[in-house]
Amino acid sequence: MKILVTGGSGFIGSNFVRHVLATHPDHAVVNLDKLTYAGNPENLRDVESDRRYRFVHGDICDAAAVRDAMAGADAVVHFAAESHVDKSNLGADEFLRTNVSGTFTLLDTARELKVGRFVQVSTDEVYGSIARGAAREADLLNPSNPYAASKAAGDLFARSYWTTHGLPVIITRSSNNFGPYQYPEKATPLFITNAIEDRPLPLYGDGRNVRDWLYVLDNCEAIDLVLHRGRDGEIYNIGGGTEVENAELTRRILRLLGKPESLIQPVRDRPGHDRRYALDSSRIHDLGWTPRHSFDAALEATVAWYRTHEAWWRPLKSGQFKAYYARQYSNR
Ligand code: NAD
Ligand code: TYD
Repeated sequence: MKILVTGGSGFIGSNFVRHVLATHPDHAVVNLDKLTYAGNPENLRDVESDRRYRFVHGDICDAAAVRDAMAGADAVVHFAAESHVDKSNLGADEFLRTNVSGTFTLLDTARELKVGRFVQVSTDEVYGSIARGAAREADLLNPSNPYAASKAAGDLFARSYWTTHGLPVIITRSSNNFGPYQYPEKATPLFITNAIEDRPLPLYGDGRNVRDWLYVLDNCEAIDLVLHRGRDGEIYNIGGGTEVENAELTRRILRLLGKPESLIQPVRDRPGHDRRYALDSSRIHDLGWTPRHSFDAALEATVAWYRTHEAWWRPLKSGQFKAYYARQYSNR
């Protein structure tokens, strides 16, 4: 199978590309990535020499580049996105462009080229905050922040291409991922790396917001399963089944690193901060997936990875990241 992966140089995409090449000897991967601040060639340095892998530097909004990269592909797995909520709250132009217009360009090209499967990688954030119970795939979308709204719009376009044009689209909606190669703007890598540096861990609001944490390798296995055995036109929730309050996550990270809780710095809450995400994942369980990694073991492995990969993340926390960090956290 020849797969076009978009956003393969980002966090989940790079883990997925590595997973596919290691698991399927007969698969080839083309990675179309614009290399925004979140895309990093280092994430896939180890597979660059694999003849089944090809990197294409390009923008998913550029129809000609997309057509070239997609030519001959049996399937598309679409990760490329602007992915950070706080950034979308500061300005959402790029979110609209990449997550909506870019997704549309990919869908339209896939239709033209008659691609056999299109996996739209989406998020539990499209359901909005869930006070009780868990979101099911047929629930109404109720996004709270511009990032979530742009992902919901991408999902609706993807659905429409299945319903109207018969493009074999499948949507995955996963909960919060954590693991190796995550850009340190997101809570888990930010807190781990700040703790290693003995810097404060900025905890929003009362720290009692709940996320359902999913180890990135478990998500890659779920997406792989959906890619090969999912049903056309279906949506699959992918939840880790581990609901943890942010304050608890923060304390666990500090404990694993042997750092004091005094590093926790309560800061002003994120505007529109969703209180809780929760997914009903029975549909993907029925397809044969369940997370293989326990939250405790995966968090420990993740902390160990950042500890042993300072050369990967230290450069990312300089330059434009510093400017972002100052802007994002200065008035809190
Ligand atoms: P990321 O920010 O780490 O990586 C995004 C990648 O997309 C980068 O390599 C970037 O260079 C590339 N990209 C951005 N704009 C592009 C464009 N216009 N053209 C081509 N490439 C472009 O993101 P991630 O955390 O790996 O998330 C991947 C996908 O999974 C996203 O669609 C996101 O919405 C979804 N998702 C993420 C999580 C999570 O916890 N990280 C949870 C659920 C769903
Ligand atoms: P994040 O990793 O940004 O993912 P998402 O917004 O997609 O859930 O944030 C995870 C949780 O951690 C979320 O409730 C916001 C919170 N958070 C903080 O408390 N402080 C921070 O500095 C960041 C980035 C997030």
